[in-house]
Amino acid sequence: MSEKYQAPRGTNDILPGPLKEPVFEVHKWQHLEVAFDKVCRTFGYREIRTPMFEDVDLFIRSSGETSDVVSKEMYEFQDKGGRDLALKPEGTAPVMRAYLEHGLANRGGLTRLWYKTHSFRYGRPGKGRYRQLHQLGVELVGSSAPGADAEVIELAYRFLADLILTPVVRINSVGDFEARRRYGELVLEALASWLPAQPVEFQAMVQKNPVRQLDSKSPEVQGLLAGLPPISECVSDAGKEHFCAVQDRLTEAGVAFAVDPSIVRGLDYYNDTVFEIFDLAFSDSLALCGGGRYDSLVSQLGGPPTACVGFGIGIERTILSMDEGKIEMCEPQLDAFIVAAGDDAWRPARQLCADIRAAGLSCLYDVDQRKLKNQFKEADRSRAKYALVIGDEELANGKVTVKVLETGEQTSVDRSGIISFLQS
Ligand code: HAM
Repeated sequence: MSEKYQAPRGTNDILPGPLKEPVFEVHKWQHLEVAFDKVCRTFGYREIRTPMFEDVDLFIRSSGETSDVVSKEMYEFQDKGGRDLALKPEGTAPVMRAYLEHGLANRGGLTRLWYKTHSFRYGRPGKGRYRQLHQLGVELVGSSAPGADAEVIELAYRFLADLILTPVVRINSVGDFEARRRYGELVLEALASWLPAQPVEFQAMVQKNPVRQLDSKSPEVQGLLAGLPPISECVSDAGKEHFCAVQDRLTEAGVAFAVDPSIVRGLDYYNDTVFEIFDLAFSDSLALCGGGRYDSLVSQLGGPPTACVGFGIGIERTILSMDEGKIEMCEPQLDAFIVAAGDDAWRPARQLCADIRAAGLSCLYDVDQRKLKNQFKEADRSRAKYALVIGDEELANGKVTVKVLETGEQTSVDRSGIISFLQS
């Protein structure tokens, strides 16, 4: 460990394995990113990349000033030009800002976008909770149909179901603005005896957005709210119909889900369908995925009313979950390590290495040109499948001696056939 510098608290280096903390082995990240790209393509989503920081106001307007993410956890700073900026705490608001700024709506039809992004949240770090976290997400813009909600939930489910043992989708409907206002009044009534004793700032926050208290971790608050009807009862008839249709579509698509009235989500921009996905096998009951419908965000950012739905999946939590479930993600092995036996073999060894790489296979040789013993040690360390030995005899016969490093088994292969040997 470096004496002087360490990665900032709550952040992680992601390194080539094997590591003591296997979550941060880079091949696992690559595995998830490739798999997500693939599943998004099959659903017709296209990638978008946005800057790492944005105008701070973008997040205040979208996530809501009473959300933890904005009120407590945002990495805000002023640049040398005096602009108020923030490292992005989540991916949705920047994507929608870009959607508006570049007039993606003018292309017509629905817009289906996916992204992988760093996000930054100044929370208390722990297992599955980081200050720099990584998300894979999608946003489907332009449809208010229940089929759109079902599509993004299905996409998240299909991706996770290929990775973890027991994904469980929990969905709820938080209704529209009016439903939340009505339900907020019920929450305030239920908290009336407790709220005045709380710090003034906190009281103001609760008054502004009472519904957020539904996912409060305080047992006292939970006790006071226990008698309330579920929020879904305040949802309008049209909202209830929409929610039923979403459930029908999910059942039709074979997505296993449960309706859970406690799912309200921590960001303020949601309406109607909200959902989270958990892994039942994951000991920490943290959501791997969270998302929902957010039909008023675009207009809050100055655009026309636009129906949207999307989700974010935490890469760290997904890998933690996979590790707990003992789900292997194998690191691609190096195909070959070339061992040069004798001074005359170095040039042909380099040539063979170049030929193997040109065929798209992975190959190394000892650039330090050390003795045979050290080359074999290096071949073992590199965890190559084969050591390819070239010495005087092999050069004279146009052959290569192939050693399977795991078993020690040896064969002789024609130099001209070595690439097809490795490919097979
Ligand atoms: P979120 O629920 O705040 O939603 O985050 C999505 C996922 O990111 C979580 O389910 C979790 O896996 C991961 N995550 C969140 N915070 C942390 C943390 N501190 N450490 C590790 N992982 C974390 C959003 O961010 C929304 N933008 C999702 C969305 C997209 N809604 C609509 N479109």
